[in-house]
Amino acid sequence: MKIVSAQELKEIAVKILTTIGVPEGDVTLIADHLVEANLRGRDSHGVFRLPAIVKGIKKKAISTRAAVELIQETAAMALLDANQGIGQIVSMKAMLLAMKKARHSGIGIVSVRGASHIGFLGYYTEYAAKQGMIGIAFTNTEPAVAPTGGAEPIHGTNPISIALPTREEPIVVDMAVSVVARGKIMESLQKGHKIPKGWAVDSEGRETEEPAAALAGSLLPIGGPKGYCLAFAFDALTGALAGASVGLDVKGTVHTEEVCTKGDLFIAIEPQMFCGLESFLEGVERLKEQIKRCKRAPGVAQIYLPGQPEKTTRLKRSQEGIPVDERLWKELKELAQF
Ligand SMILES: NC(=O)c1ccc[n+]([C@@H]2O[C@H](COP(=O)([O-])OP(=O)(O)OC[C@H]3O[C@@H](n4cnc5c(N)ncnc54)[C@H](O)[C@@H]3O)[C@@H](O)[C@H]2O)c1
Repeated sequence: MKIVSAQELKEIAVKILTTIGVPEGDVTLIADHLVEANLRGRDSHGVFRLPAIVKGIKKKAISTRAAVELIQETAAMALLDANQGIGQIVSMKAMLLAMKKARHSGIGIVSVRGASHIGFLGYYTEYAAKQGMIGIAFTNTEPAVAPTGGAEPIHGTNPISIALPTREEPIVVDMAVSVVARGKIMESLQKGHKIPKGWAVDSEGRETEEPAAALAGSLLPIGGPKGYCLAFAFDALTGALAGASVGLDVKGTVHTEEVCTKGDLFIAIEPQMFCGLESFLEGVERLKEQIKRCKRAPGVAQIYLPGQPEKTTRLKRSQEGIPVDERLWKELKELAQF
């Protein structure tokens, strides 16, 4: 592992994105998003994704200059067609639009089709929460998760993020409906590591510790059938609602050489127009307090709030640097000189 500062990592990301033709104004946001993922320990959604983004752009499956089209709009909702635009850029636009609508309507819901992979969802929801709103985001992905009882993947890892404003920093819940995100298995494959039991099954439905076999097989959903039910519902809320693809028809999130056919959903809620912001914050603070005082199981030193592990990693990596796999670092250096 090479230890790289966030600044150095951002600079190389900016160089790669600029070289491949991403407009100056967009480069900063994408680089910030990717490095933010690395800072939080979300390495599978950090600069690890840059080679795939470059590949998608070279194959013309991802467009650096796409115009986001407004297909449908009311006071509280909108449907956007991103026309193969870059996921991070389109998602930020969609969340900003949802927030604008929430300011007037109490809630804003923006459905998106035609954007490339959108990275880690907490980036967009936390943005809303920092402005005093509840931010929610969903996306669907290429098939990776088998339904309960199935021996082949139908659903994606279909993550959800919910960020809550608090009197201090937002609380960011950000999770895939698979036991782990597919990217973590891709990362293990790249690093030559085995994966823990319980993450995935092979193509015959047998538990496996081999990342390649897991990627050829299926990930396991969180909480058994409950996770499968969420994966089903999130496929519908993202792909079906946007008029995009669901389940087996989703393409282009991992195999970026193909045009991405998934959907995304962004929701902003203005607590001020429900119980009032102060009352909402009071409720969240009460919850935080109850968790802080919760009786701990034997040997447990601390109970974390949702998102707290990422905050701890962020602090450490901001000070000590970000570990980057040597092979990935070499690849990034080569891409930057292309
Ligand atoms: N764009 C895409 O297509 C896509 C697909 C899948 C996942 N993702 C992203 O991948 C990332 C990883 O997802 P994941 O499911 O592997 O996340 P994870 O399992 O690391 O964490 C899930 C959630 O649990 C919380 N958590 C973990 N341990 C905790 C503890 N001990 N106490 C309290 N809270 C704890 C985390 O803060 C987080 O909110 C997410 O950021 C997600 O948005 C993106």
